[in-house]
Amino acid sequence: MASAEVVKLLKGTPMFGQFTEKELDAVLRTAKQRVFEPGSTIVREGDPGGVGFYLITSGQVEVRKGKKAVLKLGVGEFFGEMALIDEAPRSADVVALEKTDCLMLTRWDLRGLIATYPDIALKMLTELARRLRNTTQALSE
Ligand code: CMP
Repeated sequence: MASAEVVKLLKGTPMFGQFTEKELDAVLRTAKQRVFEPGSTIVREGDPGGVGFYLITSGQVEVRKGKKAVLKLGVGEFFGEMALIDEAPRSADVVALEKTDCLMLTRWDLRGLIATYPDIALKMLTELARRLRNTTQALSE
């Protein structure tokens, strides 16, 4: 995907929406573009050394706990943040449902970004709260 397109996409996400184009260019210079084939496991449950945070730029993934599907994530959404925050093993599998492009930031890239733009941490917390609410709701059903 061309950089201009990715910048436009990032502008539409809660996490990066407040960034200027110059700042987004800096994010793009740090991030790596990764392409995953349908059916491939991007993040594996239990992996102790996870260093990647992923933002989906095209396609769709599914978060799976064992054989159970937790939820689907699409363009503009992220995954892989939990192991980067608490340094524990990956909490679930994340599998590409179709050909999926992601921007990948390492733990150190993400921490650097948060140090410069603390608002990113707040946006991530907002999304984590939303996911926790959904999981609690699903458990009670
Ligand atoms: P991480 O633990 O690094 O790797 C698996 C990812 O799946 C996790 O980060 C989250 O991004 C995502 N994930 C795990 N559990 C849930 C959940 N209950 N709701 C939404 N996303 C989840």
